[in-house]
Amino acid sequence: MPRFTRRIRIEVNGEFHEIEVDTRWTLLSVLRDELGLTGAKRGCDRGECGACTVLLDDVPINSCMALAALMDGRAVRTVESLGTAHSLNPLQRAFLENDGAQCGFCSPGFLMSAAALLESNPRPSDDEIKAALAGCICRCNAYGRIIESVRAAARQ
Ligand code: FES
Repeated sequence: MPRFTRRIRIEVNGEFHEIEVDTRWTLLSVLRDELGLTGAKRGCDRGECGACTVLLDDVPINSCMALAALMDGRAVRTVESLGTAHSLNPLQRAFLENDGAQCGFCSPGFLMSAAALLESNPRPSDDEIKAALAGCICRCNAYGRIIESVRAAARQ
């Protein structure tokens, strides 16, 4: 079977990468398997769970549904851009302090969705928080704590 590739130049978390990508690869695959950024999670791999959410030019998307070959010239931010274990950003700290995670598998998607919300709307209503997080599923059912975490981050 012939293999079709395309060279793309993509900015990820402020760093530029030139990568030869198979035209069938998703953005999630490139982030995790080519760049070693495993923060965005492969949950359903079909656009239903939100665990793979990243920001594409500041807009949250399901990276499992985005073809990497179409990402030339685009800017991506993953959960790794927010902070580190030793230097959490305010949103990550709010999740930690308000029990916004149980198993944590879905957390990167919630964090990036919340980050996009707070960047565009620093004082969201509860309805706006729920709408912004609607693309993410938490199988531990920690929604109440997650919403409280975003409220707490917005208060800071
Ligand atoms: Fe992309 Fe579930 S892994 S939406």
